[in-house]
Order: sequence, then structure tokens, then C-alpha cells
Amino acid sequence: MPYPMGAQMKFEKNILCIGAGYVGGPTMTMIANKCPNYKVTVVDINKDRIDAWNGPNCPIYEPGLDEVVAKTRGKNLFFSTETDRGIREADIIFVSVNTPTKTFGEGAGKAADLQYWEKTARQILANSESDKIIIEKSTLPVRTAEAMERILNANTKGIHFEVLSNPEFLAEGSAMQDLEKPDRVLIGSRETPEGIKARKEVVAIYAHWVPAKNILESNVWSAELSKLTANAFLAQRISSINSISALCEKTEADVDEVAYAIGTDSRIGSRFLKASVGFGGSCFQKDILNLVYICHGYGLHEVAEYWESVVKLNQWQQKRFIKNMLGNMFNTVAGKRIALFGFAFKANTGDTRESPALAITRGLLEEHAEVIITDPKALPHAREDLRDIKSGVSFEPDPYKAAAGAHAIAVMTEWKEYQSLDYERILASMPQPAFIFDGRNILDHRKLFKLGFNVFAIGKAPLKHF
Ligand SMILES: NC(=O)c1ccc[n+]([C@@H]2O[C@H](COP(=O)([O-])OP(=O)(O)OC[C@H]3O[C@@H](n4cnc5c(N)ncnc54)[C@H](O)[C@@H]3O)[C@@H](O)[C@H]2O)c1
Repeated sequence: MPYPMGAQMKFEKNILCIGAGYVGGPTMTMIANKCPNYKVTVVDINKDRIDAWNGPNCPIYEPGLDEVVAKTRGKNLFFSTETDRGIREADIIFVSVNTPTKTFGEGAGKAADLQYWEKTARQILANSESDKIIIEKSTLPVRTAEAMERILNANTKGIHFEVLSNPEFLAEGSAMQDLEKPDRVLIGSRETPEGIKARKEVVAIYAHWVPAKNILESNVWSAELSKLTANAFLAQRISSINSISALCEKTEADVDEVAYAIGTDSRIGSRFLKASVGFGGSCFQKDILNLVYICHGYGLHEVAEYWESVVKLNQWQQKRFIKNMLGNMFNTVAGKRIALFGFAFKANTGDTRESPALAITRGLLEEHAEVIITDPKALPHAREDLRDIKSGVSFEPDPYKAAAGAHAIAVMTEWKEYQSLDYERILASMPQPAFIFDGRNILDHRKLFKLGFNVFAIGKAPLKHF
């Protein structure tokens, strides 16, 4: 897609987004769609990713995304690798680069790795010729905006940068829906006249389609901290119900019934109370550990330990799943074929970052099992994630073929299609006794048991024929 010179086009504003990933791509597509009066350009250092955005298939799978990209691309939405030029032409710059957990040096394993973020700031500084609003879209430690302001405003060009925080709350798999009808949009700025003026400019973007009552304004630190806190609270609910799932298995209580009973309490609510093999995704673990690191930094060690336990419980739940498989398959899976149904960290996405399926695959391989992975969208990422594994893993897009000859099926992702497979046909293709471990509690367990499967779900009494 040709990237037109700003001067040739008549747009009210030039918006740039640096980072064309799971957040930058869908958010900017939605802004372009809702604001035809703005030119929206998304840049990335990854040329393959940009080529894919400009091609027939978007580089990420999100229901409804392809259609909106096709409608806006080339009109007021552009994907490019020309970051320097994009910066020069932009009035407002969203920064949506990755902020993974640091893997080296001070804070390794917990702190956010801000190298991509800082490089971006320096690139903005080097290429700017006029005042700009810089918006943190990436999830960042609280008070990052302060460091950003220092780097950007230490310029001798007389340019003023106003740094705002507008964290993204979308969930992968429902990104377009979340962006179209967000529960809230949060925009934080300095409470100075310049900060508030910049905040109003960003409010004006979202006001094109988000009702005023859903646009929240705050100081910049509250906005930064709200995003980390939101993810920590959501993950905490999953770890809480998963801790109870283990107790259910010991006591003949059923975790779905317990979750339903407590979820109907309006003070608690029903969402994020689904017991499972554990949470995954690029954000929960990284953001909680980041919070843990920040708390330690302020000497709040008890607070840090409290939140760290949410992550530890998630890891424990995954180990427990493998132990349960082993225990029920006569204490050995060596040489046995295990079909993993799903590899994405959740349904409706091809994203496998921190997916529990990764830990389960590696755990099963340690036990010398032969793992066959199937997934409707995530096989390319699964292959990439497991490229270090030389033998014992294979990939099969067809779930029937994956299950054929398998001693056990383990459901890793709540893809709807797994609910409507012909399990009679599947059972006939498996050696007996055949096992199903439903790590997402999505299958009809009684029906499968009646067919002849031995069924093990999360937080429920096992249904076995022996
Ligand atoms: N994935 C989610 O569901 C989600 C939701 C809310 C917030 N977030 C946050 O948003 C941020 C981005 O997440 P993501 O999932 O989109 O990550 P991602 O890895 O999919 O995308 C980030 C992109 O930034 C690009 N990039 C890095 N440095 C660059 C540079 N200097 N110039 C140009 N491009 C550069 C990378 O090539 C990559 O394509 C993270 O901070 C994340 O925590 C993610």
C-alpha cells in the first residue's frame, strides 16, 4: 500500500502509532475507522509484519479485524516502516511497542524491559521538528512518563513534548468488540494547563464513538498504575478460583457450581471465575511481576509477596495438571501419544505467549511422552515456540488426525469447535482405556464418560471406568 505524503492529503490531524502488534494494529484500525478526518499511520521495525498488514491477511487473528482494515487501509490508515518520517509528520504519537519482562541484569525475571520504549523516545526526539503529544499505549511501570518527559524535553530545539498515558484494556480474541464498545477509556496527563489541553485533544479522538461517561480522565500516574492493577486483579481472580478447584477435587464439590454460586453475588461478579489449567497471554504474568518489582523497590515487600503468589499459584496449577495426567495414566506417559487440543493461550487468537500449553508440552516431554499439537490458528506460533525441541512433538491441523492413536487428549484452549467434534469417532481411533483431561472445562463430561472415555476435568470429581 503506497504511503502518501502528508502534505498531499487533507486531514485534520496526523496520528502515528509506533508498534504494529496486537495492540497497535487493532487500536489504530478502530481509530481510523471511527475518525475519517484523521490520518492514522502505523509503523514498525519489523518489515514482515508491516508487509502482512499491507497484504491480504493481517499478521494477527482477531474476529472482525480483516474487514475493518480492508475498509480503511489506503484511505486514512497506512502501515509503513518509515518511522522517522512518520514522527516528523505526526501531531500525536501513540507508542505501542513491546515491554516484555527483563531477562538480564537488575530486576531480571520481574521488571519491565524498557529498552524498546527508550529507543523509541530517542527516535522521537531525533526526528521531531514541532511540538507533539506522546501517548503511552504500552503497559508501563508507574512513573515511566516522568523518565520519558526528561528524555524528550531535554532538547535544544525548543520543542515541547507532553507525555500522556492511555493504557489499552482490550482483550485478545475480542479486541475489535472491546475497542468499539469499551467499558472505559482512561486518559491520564499532567494536571498543568498544557497537560490538560493535551488530554482534551486525546479525549476528542475517542469522543468520535465512545460516550462521554465512558471516557475517564485522571492524573498520569493513576492511569499508568490502573493498567497494571487491572491485570493483577483479573489474574488474581483466576488464581483464586483455581486454588479452590484443587479443594473441589478433594471434596466432591464442583468448581463450576461454586463459581456460579459466588459469581452471582453482585459484589463479586461472574467474569474471570472460570477454573482452568491456568492463565496465559503476554500480559498477566509480566504485569504482575512488574508490580511485584515496583513494590519491592518502594520497600513494600509484603505487598510484593501477596501479588507474586498469584503468579506462583498459576504455575502450580499447570504442574498439578501434569501430575494429575501422570497419576491417572498409571504413573507413566513415556512413549504414549498425547494429543493437545489447542495451543493458543485462549480461544479466538493465534497468540501463544505464556500459554499454559507451553508448560504442559514441556512437562509431558520431560516424561518422554509423544505430544501431538492441534490448533485452528496457533500452529505457526507453536512451531516457533518449540523450535528447540528436536523430537517428540508434531503438529497436526486436523483434531481427528491428532487424536488418532493417542492414549489421551488434553484440552488446552477453549476453542468452540472442540465442543462439537464427533467424539464417538475419536474414541474409536484411540487405544483403550482412552483419557480426556479437560483443562478448560468446556466439554460435556457425562456424555464423554458414557461414550467410554475416562474424563478428568478441573475442580470436578473424575469420571472413570476403572
Ligand atoms: N496483547 C495484549 O492483549 C495487550 C493488551 C493491552 C496492553 N498491552 C500492552 O501493549 C504493549 C504492546 O503489546 P503487543 O501485544 O501489541 O506487543 P507486540 O509484540 O505484538 O507488538 C509490539 C511491536 O512493536 C514493535 N517495535 C518494537 N520496537 C520498535 C521500534 N523502536 N520502532 C517501531 N516498532 C517497534 C515490534 O516490532 C512489535 O511488532 C505492551 O506493553 C503490552 O503489555 C498488550
